[in-house]
Amino acid sequence: MIRTPVKASKTYEIYTGSGLLDSCGKVMREVSPQSTKLLIISESNVAPLYLDRVKDSAVSEGLEVFTFVFEAGEASKNINTISGMWGVMAKAGFTRTDLVAALGGGVTGDMAGFAAATFLRGINVVQIPTSLLAMVDASVGGKTGIDLPEGKNQVGAFWQPSAVIEDTDCLKTLPDEVFTEGMAEVIKYAYIMDTSLYSLLEEKAFLGIGIRENATLMERIVGMCVADKADVIMSDEFDNGRRQTLNYGHTVGHVIERNSNFTKPHGVCVAKGMGIIIDACEKAGTLASEEASKMRALIKAYGLPVDDDITPEDVVSGAMNDKKKRGNTLSVILVNKIGVSEIKKMTPDEFLKFLKGDGASC
Ligand SMILES: NC(=O)c1ccc[n+]([C@@H]2O[C@H](COP(=O)([O-])OP(=O)(O)OC[C@H]3O[C@@H](n4cnc5c(N)ncnc54)[C@H](O)[C@@H]3O)[C@@H](O)[C@H]2O)c1
Ligand SMILES: [Zn+2]
Repeated sequence: MIRTPVKASKTYEIYTGSGLLDSCGKVMREVSPQSTKLLIISESNVAPLYLDRVKDSAVSEGLEVFTFVFEAGEASKNINTISGMWGVMAKAGFTRTDLVAALGGGVTGDMAGFAAATFLRGINVVQIPTSLLAMVDASVGGKTGIDLPEGKNQVGAFWQPSAVIEDTDCLKTLPDEVFTEGMAEVIKYAYIMDTSLYSLLEEKAFLGIGIRENATLMERIVGMCVADKADVIMSDEFDNGRRQTLNYGHTVGHVIERNSNFTKPHGVCVAKGMGIIIDACEKAGTLASEEASKMRALIKAYGLPVDDDITPEDVVSGAMNDKKKRGNTLSVILVNKIGVSEIKKMTPDEFLKFLKGDGASC
């Protein structure tokens, strides 16, 4: 097991390893000793697989357990589902010292985190992520929230968990395409900040997504990503600077995702977005061609695409509508050397020239 400490507005630990579900109750007891009640929030795909184990572990620590299971999928990530969670806690007489646990992918974590952040103005939440994306990204860092018809993640709160318990064995039941999507975020960490992770992923690239069969390897890879994310959070919890580097591949990827009406999966779009930025940096001459080829090859080795037929014009107009832009400039994340990222402010015109390879340096 790997333990990664996080010191942000809350200090907590991330536990990553094989078989951790059976001892999650002990961690909950440790981080929230005054709790008598626990609400486990999960969804229709994950609950039949893992809910009983989490429940048993919590009951054996003397917690009175309530459950809330919603229908799996992003479509559930709305205020009605949250309202259901609040209702269960209110009826059961939860107090400020009681506890919520999120058991599932990023959709579950974001919603359970938000329900915990808002119920009685905030009660403790323990994240128990079961998807690769949720383990390496969504469960760490305290961003919680829901979607509105007008856009994704439009309402939410920063609410750090009291602990994150990542049982990497859960990855075995993840559908192949969902695992593959998560690999886009894993590769992202390698490119923006982690040459050791890059070397490991390159060394194991011949396995492709077969890496998931190797429990020790997965524990190591997830642990490295978690340490990277924790490092970023600790230097910029509220997303005013360095945390933006986690958007590598996302500025372009979000536009592709939205233009497809969310039919193209997030991780696939992020991979495409990274590919498009790699091409642009190569054309600008700031990223060596040999390095760019290695970067594209690694993304492809893990079953992800590196290009898309979106035009540079559509990327720029889409990016200008993104909620994350500040003022009339865009913060574009660039990697000109594996392991090193920079935030580059560009006007829409500069971004267009950059994407077209029209001589703008990056
Ligand atoms: N809070 C953050 O910082 C942050 C960061 C990135 C993404 N997100 C959010 O995370 C969400 C995406 O996360 P996701 O990709 O995990 O989506 P998800 O929660 O919908 O899970 C993806 C799919 O995998 C299934 N699943 C999850 N774990 C499983 C397991 N162990 N076995 C079998 N099936 C399993 C789910 O039922 C679902 O069908 C989005 O809503 C996104 O906005 C949040
Ligand atoms: Zn992402």
